[in-house]
Amino acid sequence: MSKLIDNTRQLISGDEDSNTSGNEHFQNVLQARLSRRDVLRGSLGVGMATMFGSFGLSACTSDDNNDDNAAAGSGEKLLNFSAVNKSVLDQVIVPAGYTASVIYALGDPLSATTSAFKNDGTDGDFENRAGDHHDGMEYFGLSADGKPSTTSNDRALLGMNHEATTDEKLTSFFQHANGGTASLPRPAAEVDKEVALHGVSVVEISKSSSGKWAYVQASSFNKRFTPLTPMELSGPAKGDALMVTKYSTTGLLCRGTLNNCGTGKTPWGTLLTGEENWAGYFFRSATDDAARDAKSVTALKRYGRSQGASSRHGWETGGSDDKYARWNNSKLGTSSNGADDYRNEMNTFGYVVEVDAYDKSKTAKKRTGLGRFAHESAAFSKPVVGQPLAVYQGDDARNEYIYKFVSTAVWSAADANPTDRMATGDKYLDSGKLYAAKLNADGSGEWIELNISNAKIAAYAGYSFTNQADVLVNARIAADAVGATKMDRPEWCGVHPNTGEIYFTLTNNSNRAVEPSSSQLAPDNSNPRAYSDAKGSSTSKGNVNGHILRVREGSAGATATSFNWDVYLFGAQADADKGLINLSNLTADQDFSSPDGIAFSPSTGICWIQTDDGAYTDVTNCMMLAAIPGKVGDGAKKTLAHKKADGSTLNVDTYVGKEPTTDTLKRFLVGPKDCEITGLCESPDGKSLFINIQHPGEGTKMADIADTSKYTSQWPANAGYGAGKRPRSATIVITKNDGGRIGS
Ligand code: FEO
Ligand code: CA
Ligand code: CA
Repeated sequence: MSKLIDNTRQLISGDEDSNTSGNEHFQNVLQARLSRRDVLRGSLGVGMATMFGSFGLSACTSDDNNDDNAAAGSGEKLLNFSAVNKSVLDQVIVPAGYTASVIYALGDPLSATTSAFKNDGTDGDFENRAGDHHDGMEYFGLSADGKPSTTSNDRALLGMNHEATTDEKLTSFFQHANGGTASLPRPAAEVDKEVALHGVSVVEISKSSSGKWAYVQASSFNKRFTPLTPMELSGPAKGDALMVTKYSTTGLLCRGTLNNCGTGKTPWGTLLTGEENWAGYFFRSATDDAARDAKSVTALKRYGRSQGASSRHGWETGGSDDKYARWNNSKLGTSSNGADDYRNEMNTFGYVVEVDAYDKSKTAKKRTGLGRFAHESAAFSKPVVGQPLAVYQGDDARNEYIYKFVSTAVWSAADANPTDRMATGDKYLDSGKLYAAKLNADGSGEWIELNISNAKIAAYAGYSFTNQADVLVNARIAADAVGATKMDRPEWCGVHPNTGEIYFTLTNNSNRAVEPSSSQLAPDNSNPRAYSDAKGSSTSKGNVNGHILRVREGSAGATATSFNWDVYLFGAQADADKGLINLSNLTADQDFSSPDGIAFSPSTGICWIQTDDGAYTDVTNCMMLAAIPGKVGDGAKKTLAHKKADGSTLNVDTYVGKEPTTDTLKRFLVGPKDCEITGLCESPDGKSLFINIQHPGEGTKMADIADTSKYTSQWPANAGYGAGKRPRSATIVITKNDGGRIGS
């Protein structure tokens, strides 16, 4: 997500303060640290034994592991590179001995007959070009004969999100020659182009015999999914009354995917794409509340659409055609069920969507069982034969929740290579239990099932749930009802391939304050910081720099309903106060702000941390760090003594992971101006790492569209990629000059 959009976040996203359960007292101390022996005895044992074998990685397997990052037997040492300095240059910087190359940028043609991208705002036909704001991304290997392969290191499909566009006022201004129309009504041609810039790409990439990666323009695998691509609703809310629209009066179908942010890759080889800030694209009339039932008004407000809400782009004003009308979420028709308008259209967004990257004939499915909210990534527990799969998820808005889905079906090894991947998705993702996380003061936590049979949900005073579909479509309200813990904007999550522990980035939260207003929350044990940070002449307040939470499931593994947590890392500038801000004692080679993307390398086990920051950008552009984390409980309890205005102290206990050393956390990459770093996948050998540079130059003013010298970024043109000077989101591949694995 763009940090500029985040500044107006309250306008487009839910920020309610309805959780009254956050006042628990400190009861116990955190459980003693988990020994390796405990891990091996637990349900993760089988998977871990396999992982140890395939990684050849000794890090994280000893009780005191943080200083040990040598890969067994090979002489390879992980994080054996010189940390990259903080930078405000308009270029991608990687360590000495590494090369970063652009391979796929906004506008690149995806068919043999699509014209080259001119990059001057006159290009069209984005249904056949790369979309904008490259985000989450997964690697799907292809064999030489074009079949799915888990071992191919030189041919693959990338399944990639195109989250949004770089905007000013209403317009995606870099994509229109003169910046476009920043007032209503929006011209149909501008709307059509902007809609098609969103969604998902599937694009083939291949590595030449000389070792150079490129995307394959004419590949028959290439496909774009846009907000107009027909899709199916799947799972418990399929066909529910909440899903009835003029487009699908049966509530079985829906149209397109939007604001796709984080991703996941299923154990059966499909792409999961998360719909994040979709609510902001919809218009509601100023008198809509009175026109519709009270329940739907409650739900719309909880999901960030009060009546009178203006839409991000004004797409509903593009004309009378249904493809524009669907962006008006007001009740306009006379039907009792919504079959004659788009009053329910927002209920068809906010899901994890499954895409079969290998088979473009397959219709994408929205997996309603995983709940509806502002989805980021979807990270699977390590599959264990005979046990259910867990899918971990965050809801990225201020003071929103962390979720877990647990499949009804138990994992079968045969499903790792199924004949029908989407049917396998039906099996694992359409039936299961959805939980929200409650984090306790003592370092323990609970997964609370969001089920209509739960009395707190069935009898919730704030909203009368009709059925389980209603619980899933309005998962935020159900999580309110059960008292889940409001977090500092949960972004991506990732599962550590050795320990199975789950890492959640909490990017920042301006609604956290020591003396909170009615719309803010006080610091709590798992979100313990609230402070001021200076940037030039301005000051930001709250949890400005974000943190990374870590969860260890109980002995039941994926199906556990209890867990332990600590905070792996607190983002901070290195010179910040160590008692209230720089709690992880970060040094200049490690300091970062606003963690967003997080993913573990399946090859090396390195934890890659990516930032989307607006606070430390006076000192450095956004970045990616390489980490070798330990495990929950490897650090210590700390008490933060927050000072109040009257001179009294608010003490907040938290659990901080073991302080990193330069051997366990190091800055690996800094991006160009005004970008965020996001998306991560790699070739199976770990020697080609793919990441995305999103929205370079987003600070450019539309008024300067004709003066390229005033663009805050000219990347990737200034790196030699493509025509024009308008900045473009793009995929880069990182390789090591000696042919080694990335991060070694
Ligand atoms: Fe799309 Fe929450 O970042
Ligand atoms: Ca993100
Ligand atoms: Ca600062």
